Amino acid sequence: MSEALQPEDVLRLSPVMPVVVIDDAAHAVQLARTLLAGGVKTIEITLRTPAALDAIRAIATEAPEMIVGAGTVLTADDLDAAIAAGARYALSPGGTSKLMKAARKQDIPFIPGVATASEVQRGLQLGYRCFKLFPAEQLGGVSAVKALAGPFPSIRFCPTGSITPEKAPGYLALDNVLCVGGSWIAPADKIRSGDWAGIEAAARQAAALR
Ligand code: 3PG
Repeated sequence: MSEALQPEDVLRLSPVMPVVVIDDAAHAVQLARTLLAGGVKTIEITLRTPAALDAIRAIATEAPEMIVGAGTVLTADDLDAAIAAGARYALSPGGTSKLMKAARKQDIPFIPGVATASEVQRGLQLGYRCFKLFPAEQLGGVSAVKALAGPFPSIRFCPTGSITPEKAPGYLALDNVLCVGGSWIAPADKIRSGDWAGIEAAARQAAALR
């Protein structure tokens, strides 16, 4: 377990949080090492496939220098399972009060998702200051994130959803954005086909974005 890793620390690990959907846990360690070789120190394994928890476990034990997190954590049970597998942090596309309250009692950082000002306020009430903003492009993109800085100057975001390498710098230029999430660094088809050179090149480019 990392010593008191905070949500802000998680979002400062890389300008781009690689959002990963993994079909086969056997690829996980190679993927983690490839991202590290490209300068990306973290990976979000989404709990969207049966292989996800095994992938987290494999990275946590065989590539411990990679800070592995769990994404698409929808329930308190998902969070428990992710922690048991070795996840160092967790994210959700949204956040029920049940999940957000349960996560406050856990030792790892949890970053809930928001799409509206009211959801930010609900999260704030429960003690959260860092949020995933999802789906960022569909919600209005850079101008939407910029507008949220007015009422919420101390809140920090990880906008995610249809962000591209071309669009990422616009988000990263905002003071209230610590990183963006994106699947383009390690898309499922490149993992499946073992395109490690392509993933490493995309990671290197993403790591240099800020
Ligand atoms: C997600 O699926 O969590 C995000 O939308 C990241 O995927 P994208 O970069 O393909 O939108």
